[in-house]
Amino acid sequence: MGKNIIILNGSPRRNGNTSALVEKFTQGARKAGHTVSEFFLGDMNIHGCKGCLSGHSSRPCPCVQKDDMDRIYPAMRTCDVMVLASPLYYWNFSGQLRTAMDRLFALEEHDGNFLRGHNRACALLMAAEGHGFEDALTYYQHLLEHLRWTDLGHVLAGGNMDVGDITGKPELEQAYALGQSIA
Ligand SMILES: Cc1cc2nc3c(=O)[nH]c(=O)nc-3n(C[C@H](O)[C@H](O)[C@H](O)COP(=O)(O)O)c2cc1C
Repeated sequence: MGKNIIILNGSPRRNGNTSALVEKFTQGARKAGHTVSEFFLGDMNIHGCKGCLSGHSSRPCPCVQKDDMDRIYPAMRTCDVMVLASPLYYWNFSGQLRTAMDRLFALEEHDGNFLRGHNRACALLMAAEGHGFEDALTYYQHLLEHLRWTDLGHVLAGGNMDVGDITGKPELEQAYALGQSIA
């Protein structure tokens, strides 16, 4: 049966290198029969976590803040696979993606944990000018350990600064293969 896959795209550039990876991944996943929904975070109204620890995971809107996270929470509850997609910004995920990740914490609060476990899996797509992905990869690994999600793999496309730099590069086919490999 096809999996329900959601992609959190943290690039602010709709036609950028991260989005090119997302597009190829999506093509591969759809070819394999999966359903893919992308959230382009840069166009969404998502505020930073307030650290109030007042979330209620079982509520339809688990966070005290009301913003576009209310589109992501229901998708998160029902997904099998979450894909994190981001440009490398100062050796880490973009602020757009980090902000959304922090807000997912509301799904872990008070009424049971609706984020951790649940037989979910995760994959990572990133683009960067250089190749300094180590810290971002370490963060991703810690995150998955915490969430107890299976790691499906990653595509890290270095050597891409400007929009379009990734065109024709092998990482695009790797992203397609990663999407298609999901079983
Ligand atoms: C704020 C900012 C920080 C960046 N930091 C890094 C970095 O630490 N290492 C790196 O190799 N590239 C860095 N870059 C370059 C981007 O990762 C690169 O342009 C990437 O292709 C952007 O992806 P996009 O096309 O999806 O937006 C940075 C770019 C910006 C705008």
